[in-house]
Amino acid sequence: MFIVLEGCDGSGLTTQTKLLSEALKRAKMKVWATKEPTKSEIGILIRKILAKQEKNEKMAMYDAKALALLFAADRMMHQKEIRKRLSEGYIVISDRYLLSSYVYQVEEGLPFEWVKCINEGCIAPDITFVLNVPPEVCMERLKRRKNFEIFENEAKLRKIHKRYLKLASLMENVFVIDGDRPKEEVLADILECLKRKYAFGVKEERSGK
Ligand code: TYD
Repeated sequence: MFIVLEGCDGSGLTTQTKLLSEALKRAKMKVWATKEPTKSEIGILIRKILAKQEKNEKMAMYDAKALALLFAADRMMHQKEIRKRLSEGYIVISDRYLLSSYVYQVEEGLPFEWVKCINEGCIAPDITFVLNVPPEVCMERLKRRKNFEIFENEAKLRKIHKRYLKLASLMENVFVIDGDRPKEEVLADILECLKRKYAFGVKEERSGK
């Protein structure tokens, strides 16, 4: 099974990927948690570009198409490992994937069809969860962190957020989870959804903390 977590910057993707991975491991499942941009050379290059643009806002924007191609290239490299792990019986959980490109690169002004085209052949997730957190809450969380990236300002976050919800309503196997709650409750909802859809037998206590 290939599970993807998506959402705005600051929506808790990294936390939920970790919690979900731990919960499934506790239920004796083989889990491989991964992330995009990846740690490949292309992924590292992407992070360098994002960090540079954040530091120097006056610098001409990196060409949106070039960046979209880098994200797609990073994803193509990622495929090999994802397919391998799936064939070995792992549950693969990815913190961001295809939907990120459909949202962020299209928000950068690129045609959806073109973004779709450069990502063609990518393995489709079995299920994608979009963590729905109000943009202003995301922004507050991001402010508490040090490293801002180019996609992180509130007006942009609002547009990204809207785009995620719209896409989720149009696509199959994409579920919106209310992410503006204690992390254990968010995880419980994700597990409940997996259980309903795939008869996963993972039980977690809702501590409400
Ligand atoms: P992010 O998950 O926010 O990394 P971290 O939390 O470690 O800083 O990802 C970095 C940024 O990359 C994020 O703003 C979304 C953006 N992104 C795209 O624009 N397109 C993509 O295809 C992917 C995977 C990410």
